[in-house]
Amino acid sequence: MNISIIGSGYIGKSLGKYYFSNGFNVTFFDISKEILQELERDGYPICSNFDEAIIKSDVIFLTLPTPTINQKISLDAFDDTLTKLLNLNLDGKLIIIKSTITPGTTDDFIKKISEKNSCINKKFGVIYNPEFITEIASSWNKSGEEIDFCKESRVVIGESENKEWGDFFIKNLVLQKKTPVIRTNYSEAEMIKYVSNVMLATKISFWNEIYLLTEKLNLSFEDIAKGVSLDSRIGEYGTVTGKAFGGKCLPKDIEAFITFANSYQKMSIVENAKKVNDFMKNSFGVRE
Ligand SMILES: NC(=O)c1ccc[n+]([C@@H]2O[C@H](COP(=O)([O-])OP(=O)(O)OC[C@H]3O[C@@H](n4cnc5c(N)ncnc54)[C@H](O)[C@@H]3O)[C@@H](O)[C@H]2O)c1
Repeated sequence: MNISIIGSGYIGKSLGKYYFSNGFNVTFFDISKEILQELERDGYPICSNFDEAIIKSDVIFLTLPTPTINQKISLDAFDDTLTKLLNLNLDGKLIIIKSTITPGTTDDFIKKISEKNSCINKKFGVIYNPEFITEIASSWNKSGEEIDFCKESRVVIGESENKEWGDFFIKNLVLQKKTPVIRTNYSEAEMIKYVSNVMLATKISFWNEIYLLTEKLNLSFEDIAKGVSLDSRIGEYGTVTGKAFGGKCLPKDIEAFITFANSYQKMSIVENAKKVNDFMKNSFGVRE
């Protein structure tokens, strides 16, 4: 099976190396020449021509960046890719979106791509399969053999009413057969990814406030956190406190989520989680 990775940054590289080390024909594409040169030096197949990469693929992973700009998700990389895809025949191909995107984005993407006559026949599949690994938890060595995809807690598949492509994905591309699989529509799968990140961010901010309180009372935060987190309903995530959460995902995703959600429903808990984090950042710095 021929796989192309469109956007060979952190997630694209880990994903591509994972499938490569499991015997798939993987081709990396990126707009950055440096990234492609590095992958080529390390012995991975690359293609610097977008059309060629797509034409020879059965499966196309979109691992494109979705930064938050002016408090809103930016889909520029998606729009750019969409424009290029519109000129190609996608018949028989499966597009798998991995990036973190606000609910409704995959539906819009499909609508735009299907409206154009240039996508002859339109017998191609699109699924949304969010990525849950994090930069901190994940690792891979230079040969691409050891990475964390096999440790995913669940595989989420956002799909249309036609389940054939999801079935194909599970059969051929979910290599860890025991991982629980959740199948939903596109927007629900997109929401699962955001709610996961927002929940993690909220837990960190909650514990950071408790940390500030215990400092003032001269109590041992570690002992209190241990005593609380042994309750399996609560768990220990977020009890490493004292600094703001950083990294590439939580800060950008919490901000984009607030803007997205607030036009439907005010997210007061999440907004306050962000406020606490801003305070921690200004007072104590960021844990990357
Ligand atoms: N990094 C993480 O830990 C993590 C975890 C889960 C989900 N995600 C999500 O996955 C997505 C990708 O994140 P990442 O950390 O890999 O980003 P990244 O910035 O490391 O990589 C993105 C890559 O895409 C390339 N690119 C940009 N525009 C392009 C275009 N138009 N065509 C082709 N390539 C293009 C960039 O050059 C870059 O190499 C984001 O939506 C992110 O939120 C990231």
